[in-house]
Amino acid sequence: MTAIDNNVPSHLRGNGAPVQDERSLTDLRVKGTIPRELDGRYLRNGANPFTGVSDHPFFGDGMIHGMRLRDGKAEWYRNRYVQTPFISDPSRSILDLSVAMDMNSSKANTHVVGHAGKILALEEGHFPYVLDGDLNTVSATDFGGVLTGSFTAHPKICPVTGELLAFGYSALEPYLRYLRVAADGQLVQSETITVGGPTMMHDFNVTRNHVIFMDLPAVFDLEMAMRGEMPIHWDDAYPARLGVMPRNGTDVDVRWFELNPCYVFHPMNSYEEGDTIVLDVARLSHIWRDSMMDFPMPQFWRWTIDTVTGKVTEEQVDDRAGEFPRVADSVIGLKHRYGYMMAIPAAFSYDDPMSSSGAIMKYDRETGARSEIDFGRGRMPGEPVFVPAEGGKNEDDGYLLTFVYDASSNTSELVVMDAATMSDTPIATVDLPRIPHGFHGSWVAASVAN
Ligand SMILES: [Fe+2]
Repeated sequence: MTAIDNNVPSHLRGNGAPVQDERSLTDLRVKGTIPRELDGRYLRNGANPFTGVSDHPFFGDGMIHGMRLRDGKAEWYRNRYVQTPFISDPSRSILDLSVAMDMNSSKANTHVVGHAGKILALEEGHFPYVLDGDLNTVSATDFGGVLTGSFTAHPKICPVTGELLAFGYSALEPYLRYLRVAADGQLVQSETITVGGPTMMHDFNVTRNHVIFMDLPAVFDLEMAMRGEMPIHWDDAYPARLGVMPRNGTDVDVRWFELNPCYVFHPMNSYEEGDTIVLDVARLSHIWRDSMMDFPMPQFWRWTIDTVTGKVTEEQVDDRAGEFPRVADSVIGLKHRYGYMMAIPAAFSYDDPMSSSGAIMKYDRETGARSEIDFGRGRMPGEPVFVPAEGGKNEDDGYLLTFVYDASSNTSELVVMDAATMSDTPIATVDLPRIPHGFHGSWVAASVAN
């Protein structure tokens, strides 16, 4: 186990500690059988401070951990920093306003997605960074000069049209822009959206015909920014609203629906059903009311917007804590039956990882059942990424991929789990060095980006 140093911030202890070496490993030890149909890369991003230190869990530098699978083999594991200006000049601070307003100054630490032949490392305040198939950084991109502000870390790829639907928010006007990237990678729509103020909008929702913005009471405070603090706080006076807009619509088409104050970093999925729009989300009662480490436990909720009456029905689905909800990429914006989440153990601490067991939960929204994969004591998975099985008939015919950290050996492994059966026994594992806990990832099939 990594030694605990109480002088180190809590988010950098245990498996929160960054790894400093960039490795390229082959001849990896595999247990079980990697399905031959898995031809691509499992990529995962996370905040891994280049200097070894960061003031907040969100401020570390983006490091991509990647696993190339092909022909039933674990061809390579690599981890690479995204080469942002913070790597070439580690003295730069993201809390310096002039740095933060430079759209190339991304930490690129939040998500990594494949679209239109490109791999994009994303963070929500700046331009995306393009990576090549070996995880080398190519450059930041402004989509040929069309993108003039930030780009979310949580765009959604429509499985029907292949579009990448996105947005960007800002502390300065315009506070919100809707962004629509065509299937060929061209940014074809950039639309200013009117909101009540500058809020931190971490993620959003898409349906077959609409996008839904979450304008929630995490509000920018320029005075905090001038003091060099994280410039966002909870504001009881700011109304929580959902904004529904046709995917090809404009600002005048947005309809706003009020709901109870809360914060949602991550929706699971959303879809239209008759006159309603259903959103499954991981909901927090608030964030950052008391401090910048004020994160209540997220829980699974369902919101249903009645577009005729204007009412939002809010229903708690589960009282167990979970985050990083995902569905199969094939049902994004469409009615899903199954959703997956990383469980958050009640007693979990970076300082004492052996005190709890990690799990991935699966929700069947048709039957209401919850099942789980239990990884055992001291073994923590990350966000579950679903990869469909070749020729699969059901929505859950496929695999769940994630990195699992094992505190007893201080190492990690890639696990390939059976999403249909949720068996605790992996289909395959690949032994890896320690991979720090991180944020989001994707399966990027070789057919998408190579
Ligand atoms: Fe996120």
